[in-house]
Amino acid sequence: MTQDELKKAVGWAALDYVRPDTIVGVGTGSTAAHFIDALGSIKHQIKGAVSSSVASTEKLKSLGITVFDSNEVDELDIYVDGADEINPHMQMIKGGGAALTREKIIAAIARQFICIVDATKQVDILGTFPLPVEVIPMARAYVARELVKLGGQPVYRQGVVTDNGNVILDVHNLDISDAIAVENRINGIAGVVTVGLFANRGADVALVGTADGVKTLK
Ligand code: A5P
Repeated sequence: MTQDELKKAVGWAALDYVRPDTIVGVGTGSTAAHFIDALGSIKHQIKGAVSSSVASTEKLKSLGITVFDSNEVDELDIYVDGADEINPHMQMIKGGGAALTREKIIAAIARQFICIVDATKQVDILGTFPLPVEVIPMARAYVARELVKLGGQPVYRQGVVTDNGNVILDVHNLDISDAIAVENRINGIAGVVTVGLFANRGADVALVGTADGVKTLK
């Protein structure tokens, strides 16, 4: 099976977690795009979605799914999204698609985070994938210096402006063996909007696409 076929398998498997008449939290990226296709097939059974990016909003609307503003929603049953890496503690690196801030907000609102990944995303220790950090543009150089002090090598993601008008630093070679400590430390740097570590709030369920089928981790 190709990597995209594995992504498609988990995208569709996530439908099992969607309850009728609910508003569904929807992530961003190529795996989440398969979930949106799947959601389109049951669109008459749900109220609609809250989306984590302009790209996902456009795809949801093109399929006729109502998209709600997150401020209109008190609680979400589930949030379904991909990840760039996930470890055995269900902690993740996210933000490869630059949507990390809205993803973190919707994950915080949702009762359950359903992570959908192909098996290549499973790691023992996070950090081989460079850690995305969304930064207020005027703080870019300062935040980069602070990240160097933490032992990382930040690289400015050229030409990328987030949906919130900010920039991304991708941090290479950071020691993320204590993911909660690193998340809290980077969150505390002035000018950081969001760090793409989802450790304090990890996934509740991971659907992992493997050659032997979809495996469920809880
Ligand atoms: C988007 O900002 C990310 O958090 C995605 O969830 C992550 O990059 C996974 O993307 P793919 O599903 O395209 O691999």
